Amino acid sequence: MPIDRNPIRNIVILTGAGVSAESGIDTFRDANDGRGGLWEQHRVEDVATPEAFARDPDLVLRFYDMRREAIQTKKPNPAHHALARLDKEWEGQLLIVTQNVDDLHERAGARRVLHMHGEHLNAWCTACDVRSRWTGTLIERPACPRCGEPALRPDVVWFGEMPYEMDRIFAALRDADLFVSIGTSGAVYPAAGFVRNANELGARTLELNLDRSQGSHWFDETRLGPAGRIVPEWVDEILA
Ligand code: APR
Repeated sequence: MPIDRNPIRNIVILTGAGVSAESGIDTFRDANDGRGGLWEQHRVEDVATPEAFARDPDLVLRFYDMRREAIQTKKPNPAHHALARLDKEWEGQLLIVTQNVDDLHERAGARRVLHMHGEHLNAWCTACDVRSRWTGTLIERPACPRCGEPALRPDVVWFGEMPYEMDRIFAALRDADLFVSIGTSGAVYPAAGFVRNANELGARTLELNLDRSQGSHWFDETRLGPAGRIVPEWVDEILA
């Protein structure tokens, strides 16, 4: 049953790799991508875990340097622009919780964005715990701009690490009238569980995705199609 717009005031939006796919950024695990779970020729466990970083820091730093360089050549697509328009025009509470480590929501102009899995364009100093904006490379072990130690790592949440700002996300879910999930496969927790949390907390739930996600049956409504088309359509509808 389509979701009625009227009583909706507070919105939480969860985005995943699918929202950036049409910008040319690879997703991780599309059903038919033919990459057999490989991510830029690497198994996720070889590059996206603290154990991998301890075992082979050069491999991990080089991998993230490459991704960091690549995302800076990409541009926001109509889905990012539509969400930025919603952020600008929506008068109620709104939080875009993204699992993406790219900055395409912000480059489209969105401000109410929370990066629960960190950001490619940040470096995190493991010596002084300060995060710095970082557009260059880390492979040559540059000094931390704050403390001078050569102890910078990518500020991305690896498998086995705690996502950021869970308290703020749950506070927003508690207030939400509508939870919208966009372009995520529902394979990685805790984000994959937000739809059930939202349901339990009384929000309506809407999925916008290319294919049905693993938790698709938990949503009140699912719309299938490319984000670059179905997100602007939904934003037009909710702002009408
Ligand atoms: N429009 C909408 N959805 C799309 C599009 C598109 N153009 N292209 C792909 N999708 C959908 C796929 O159908 C899939 O359901 O986007 C989803 C991408 O799923 P994943 O690759 O698993 O990405 P995501 O859900 O963001 O992954 C979660 O896993 O590896 C970790 O930390 C990483 O944040 C990431 C987390």
